[in-house]
Amino acid sequence: MDKIIQEPQAESAPINGRRRFFNKLWAVLGSLACLELGWLSFSILRSGKGKKNADNEDVIIQAGTIEDYAIDTVTAIPQGQFYLSCLEDGSFLALSRTCTHLGCSVPWDVEASKFICPCHGSSFAITGEVLTPPATRSLNTHPLRIENVVIYVNTGKIEKQMQDGKSRSVKVYSP
Ligand code: FES
Repeated sequence: MDKIIQEPQAESAPINGRRRFFNKLWAVLGSLACLELGWLSFSILRSGKGKKNADNEDVIIQAGTIEDYAIDTVTAIPQGQFYLSCLEDGSFLALSRTCTHLGCSVPWDVEASKFICPCHGSSFAITGEVLTPPATRSLNTHPLRIENVVIYVNTGKIEKQMQDGKSRSVKVYSP
């Protein structure tokens, strides 16, 4: 006659429950790590694409005339995806809207009178200069020229700015 041996299930149920919980926890943590890795890779690839674009052909955007801009203002130029800063001394800068920390798009805050990145809180002055980390580098610029009061910006090229921000601005008025 065969003996039927029963497993003691009452004691193993909590252990199995805990094991299942930890398995799920590891799965969630693993998924989060994969997502973060994917996002980081995407950021690196995107910044690489930007560098490649800098070597490519010129893309000239006509951004109106110098009379269209008041002193000490920042204007978004949507068709070129950049900002035109008209500085105190009447000079102009075409600033990239891409944060130099991890590449988020940085809006101009009119009230605060500075660019504030929504991702990690870096802020930049009207010249693109870093005011608040984690970004350590000024906003990049696009080459800008003025012919017969008309402003032309080359969005096909990106320049890394000097820390003071004014070194690449184009002056059109006498101080
Ligand atoms: S991407 Fe702008 S502060 Fe991090």
